[in-house]
Amino acid sequence: MTEHQAIYTHGHQDAVLRSHRSRTAANSAAYLLPELRAGQTLLDVGCGPGTITADLAELVGPTGRVVAVDSSPEVLAQAAEYLAGRGLDNVVLAVGDIHRLQYADGEFDVVHAHQVLQHVADPVAALRELRRVVAPGGVVAVRDADYQAMTWYPELPELTAWLDLYRRTARANGGEPDAGRRLLAWARAAGFTEVTAGSSSWTYATAGERLWWGESWAERVVSSGLAATARERGFADDAELAVIADGWRRWAVDPDGWFAVLNGEVLARG
Ligand SMILES: C[S@@+](CC[C@H](N)C(=O)[O-])C[C@H]1O[C@@H](n2cnc3c(N)ncnc32)[C@H](O)[C@@H]1O
Repeated sequence: MTEHQAIYTHGHQDAVLRSHRSRTAANSAAYLLPELRAGQTLLDVGCGPGTITADLAELVGPTGRVVAVDSSPEVLAQAAEYLAGRGLDNVVLAVGDIHRLQYADGEFDVVHAHQVLQHVADPVAALRELRRVVAPGGVVAVRDADYQAMTWYPELPELTAWLDLYRRTARANGGEPDAGRRLLAWARAAGFTEVTAGSSSWTYATAGERLWWGESWAERVVSSGLAATARERGFADDAELAVIADGWRRWAVDPDGWFAVLNGEVLARG
């Protein structure tokens, strides 16, 4: 693996994007919202299917400009369609790599990356690059899940096997699945002098949420980038993946089922 290369563990299959499309600025970037003003220039790196990007574009619009970057042209095509459907014309989309952005020093008032640093080869170098493109006095906002800190009930062994498999696979791909707890350290290592670190969670505990989250993972564990890498690396075979998928489906219909995702988040300046 050469410098600054990692494989994006999830891939962009529909079961993955269905999960990412549920994200909004309110449920995924609340810590950033007090910083936003109409007229700001905002960069959203690793924008994925663009649902958070669209909310951010409304918040800095109509005069503010948003640039949304992703390393995947396929997902950017979906983001373009989604943004057009929302009637937003203040967003420019571009293929790019967080480690070497094609923008000038200090070009943006706000730089945002949601659930991206956990997937990249060098998160400190990536944060240095985000720091380079933010204007003096501007803010960099990053938020990432912490897989090891995820917790659930009932304590099904299949879900424990899922977590172990996910963390092994993400690390084999060059990422860091327990990124949430490391964001403060990474931001300090990247040279930021003023860092505010916090956390917030997503909880899935209603019948609808359980079905959506459980079904999404049941599908992803047999058919996404996670499944492909797990098979290639010999971490799990088809039968083992099917057992994990069954466990997710049992959890999804259990009225006692509860799942929490802890996210680390950082606002960084200086
Ligand atoms: C988990 S998704 C998050 C998408 C979106 N921010 C959201 O929260 O809905 C991570 C995204 O980062 C992109 N990505 C991965 N590595 C990247 C890199 N080195 N540079 C830019 N984008 C990258 C992936 O293609 C993917 O769309």
